[in-house]
Amino acid sequence: MEPIANVNGRRMPLAEVRISPLDRGFLFGDSVYEVIRVYAGQPFLFDEHLRRLGHSLESIRIHGIDLEQLRKRVLDTIAAGPFREATVYIQVTRGAAPRAHGFPNDATPFEFLYVREFEDPYVEARKQGVVVITTPDVRWDRCDIKSTNLLANVLAMQAAKEAGATEALFFLPDGTITEGTHTSFFGVLGGKLLTAPQSPAILPGITRSLILRIAAEQEIPVREQTLRLQDLPRVSELFLTGTTSEVLPIEKVDQCVIWEGAPGEVTRRLQRGYERVSERDAASGGV
Ligand code: PDD
Repeated sequence: MEPIANVNGRRMPLAEVRISPLDRGFLFGDSVYEVIRVYAGQPFLFDEHLRRLGHSLESIRIHGIDLEQLRKRVLDTIAAGPFREATVYIQVTRGAAPRAHGFPNDATPFEFLYVREFEDPYVEARKQGVVVITTPDVRWDRCDIKSTNLLANVLAMQAAKEAGATEALFFLPDGTITEGTHTSFFGVLGGKLLTAPQSPAILPGITRSLILRIAAEQEIPVREQTLRLQDLPRVSELFLTGTTSEVLPIEKVDQCVIWEGAPGEVTRRLQRGYERVSERDAASGGV
């Protein structure tokens, strides 16, 4: 099935979408985005993604986007497929205007989304674990905004690919690990589940929040506290979370082997918890 797009309310094949060369998303990265997973035709954690989009839009002062209208467009585009296992990509730019850094006076935001079938590339990796590398976090101070300025992430991910790894973890000058290029990061240390606290240094991952909720339900002790590179030799488990990755165990970071054989107990419990919630939500028509 070909991906289907919706541009400012008009549905069309993705291949037919045309974007102005003066669009500020293209010229300046002046835009924000979301990626949503669709299970059994239902967008998963839809409200949470729309809320985060609202936060990103507000943070970069793009006003007047009707999120309820956007919600209807997403549902309408999924139904036009019909898509079952899919992803939705949403991007809102400040619009097209003669090139100048400051905001234009009269640009109309460009509201773009598309739905495409998702063939899960991580089925085996979720059982067997992945190898990741570490790389300095050279991003800016507002990583809580889901902006399309992703050059640092792109270069770090390419370094991972060239090293034969699945993801790159960013670390700050003091060794604090923030997150992956497109995933949140968790570890188990001394029996506690640790992840970086919400701050402008990380994206408030939607999957991260769900995992914290599942951990609380399962009475797994949690501390929102960062792990540092120095902690890695002592951790018993590490994993990544993200909209398409779900819960992805890490078996090796750079030269540091985390486990040999099988992912840890906490990781597997959280994977099962994630499966239960996503299956339940899909069966109940989405929440
Ligand atoms: N990335 N951290 C970063 C920097 C991300 O880009 C993402 C998501 C995450 C995980 O967030 P969530 O659980 O809400 O997907 C963490 C998306 C999937 C992407 O850029 O494709």
